[in-house]
Amino acid sequence: MSLAETPVESLSAEAAAAELERLARELAEHDQRYFQDDAPLISDGDYDALKHRNLAIEARFPELVRPDSPSRRVGAAVSEAFAAVPHGVPMLSLDNAFSAGDVEDFVRRVKRFLALDATPIRLTAEPKIDGLSASLTYVSGRLVRAATRGDGRVGEDVTANILTIADIPKTLLGDDIPDRIEIRGEVYIAHADFAAMNSAAEAAGERTYANPRNAAAGSLRQIDARVTASRPLRFFAYAWGETSAPLGATQTEALERLASFGFSTNPLSKTVTDVEGLLGAYQDLEARRSDLDYDIDGVVYKIDRLDWQERLGAVGRTPRWAIAHKFPAEQARTRLLGIDIQVGRTGALTPVAKLQPVTVGGVVVRNATLHNADEIARKDICVGDMVIVQRAGDVIPQIVGAVASERPASAEPYAFPTICPCELQTAVTQEMTGAGVLTVVRRCTGELACPYQKIEHLKHFVSRRAFDIEGLGEKQLAGFFQDDWISEPADIFRLAIKDAQSLKKLKDREGAGETSVKNLFAAIESRRTISLARFIFGLGIRHVGETTAQTLARGYGSAHAFLTAMDQVAAGDPTAIEDLDALDQIGTAVVEACKAFFGESHTRDLVQRLFDELTVLEAEAPRADTAVAGKTVVFTGALERLTRDEAKAQAERLGAKVASSVSKKTDIVVAGPGAGSKLKTAAELGVRILSEDEWIALIG
Ligand code: IVH
Repeated sequence: MSLAETPVESLSAEAAAAELERLARELAEHDQRYFQDDAPLISDGDYDALKHRNLAIEARFPELVRPDSPSRRVGAAVSEAFAAVPHGVPMLSLDNAFSAGDVEDFVRRVKRFLALDATPIRLTAEPKIDGLSASLTYVSGRLVRAATRGDGRVGEDVTANILTIADIPKTLLGDDIPDRIEIRGEVYIAHADFAAMNSAAEAAGERTYANPRNAAAGSLRQIDARVTASRPLRFFAYAWGETSAPLGATQTEALERLASFGFSTNPLSKTVTDVEGLLGAYQDLEARRSDLDYDIDGVVYKIDRLDWQERLGAVGRTPRWAIAHKFPAEQARTRLLGIDIQVGRTGALTPVAKLQPVTVGGVVVRNATLHNADEIARKDICVGDMVIVQRAGDVIPQIVGAVASERPASAEPYAFPTICPCELQTAVTQEMTGAGVLTVVRRCTGELACPYQKIEHLKHFVSRRAFDIEGLGEKQLAGFFQDDWISEPADIFRLAIKDAQSLKKLKDREGAGETSVKNLFAAIESRRTISLARFIFGLGIRHVGETTAQTLARGYGSAHAFLTAMDQVAAGDPTAIEDLDALDQIGTAVVEACKAFFGESHTRDLVQRLFDELTVLEAEAPRADTAVAGKTVVFTGALERLTRDEAKAQAERLGAKVASSVSKKTDIVVAGPGAGSKLKTAAELGVRILSEDEWIALIG
């Protein structure tokens, strides 16, 4: 049994710590893929299972709760590409109901809360549109600001992008319009539009999206609003935030008002009076689901009377007055034609099912993920099998299993490759976790010599959150790579030297004009000067995501200091390793990844060649004029006046370094109730120990 499958009750403390580290890392990656890249890899159910496992382990080993624990994070971080917009009224999320029993419980809870045992209550049943929510602020009837949901409290300013959506009124209709009102609803893409958009993208060699939801999210969060304008986005209004005048006495009336302002509201919404009515509406919508031209993933039930909604209020981040009754994932049967292997940036081999094209819930599916070798074996899937494909709306399609009774005689068990499909044909290894258990991932050991990893590294390097080179997308990159013009990041910055030739080549291949070629070179030049955090992130070191890259940048200050330290880490220098490990939120996984990355001489040379092309800016100099400037601080135990994240951010703003473990280098330990071994170590080492109040007094 792998560590990931070990029941929580059977974990030793050491194994639990390793699991918590893995879960923190994986959940952070999934958050990044879901919220920032709009390209989730796992279903909501699998994501929730990881979160639950994390909580269960933390409940059993409270002393092992990590500072970067997923249980302490709230939703999506706001991307730095868009300005932050705080929501006047938080954008809540909904609790889920999966069965009729859950729905009965919901109505019973509401009645009990309102002390309404015998009084009938009216509810609305609205299709749950599977897109992404947006908030639109109108002042004097004019659309002045639009934002994404973000983490529910702060969203991203996407006004320019929202203005391009045809069915969002720029000016509200009617003469009785609140002076100021914030309208909420769902941005989505219809199936037919999605299919057309993906085939056009495919023909142009651009990225395609796995499903309409990701396409909608990706299209709305474009830096260039002209790109958004070219995407077929639509909008349904269903809620509101701050308003200077009420919209009515009930949800039903409010929806009618929204329609009168000029918004599309969903025509399938209904008002019912009891649980039977809700379940009837659910069955009705489920039956119509596959005929709809857009994705819905359930039905939202809301208490109709708005005064009751207000009395019911919210618990945490979900309202008591509404619930989402989810549909099961849509499925279809089709033939498994073959299995391809994709090699990712870190060498992980992912099997991808090639399917006889099949429509699942309105979308044509040709590929589905099979995750890893163990998954194929566990599901007993053979090439040639009739398989069940599932599309959960928000993730890439998955194979549920094979139909055993329909296995053709010719079906062959799949032999997972033991060598990488790359030209090096390197051996494929199965990794061990820290606790000595084999993981499910098979990995090519070719590192940057493997062409698949190379191109994935390059794609990562130019991606939006790394070097973000405009005009050098995956398609152009692949072309340059094939022609051997770019085989490592430094080559990008040498491209202009081949000016005359590249110009001709680009013109020939892309039909690109002289101006666009010049623009490309200008974009490359503008990135020759880069922040330290982007430089580190762009290297694509395993486990070093954006946040970790920022931590490293802050911790080392300059590229020179960073590279020197990494060489020492790779050489096994204990002090350098200790310094790295002591940085806040850096654990064994990152230390090991840095060792491996910089210890590989080809990779290290490649980094040097890149560095030689660039001017890497120093990380912003920490403040030197405060009481804690330059001091290394460790927070331990519970904090009561500040959240841990606030405390850390504040300390860093004031020029302190925040570390996660206590060592001789620690200057201050801020200890709250429940502090354990770190407090003890601090006392032993004679480190200054402050209470939270003393800390606040110190920083003023
Ligand atoms: S009401 C307080 N109504 O579902 C609840 N949400 O999980 C505010 N959604 O973030 C939302 N259709 O993106 C509401 N008819 C509908 C909806 C709907 C889709 C989405 C929305 C929200 C999520 C909640």
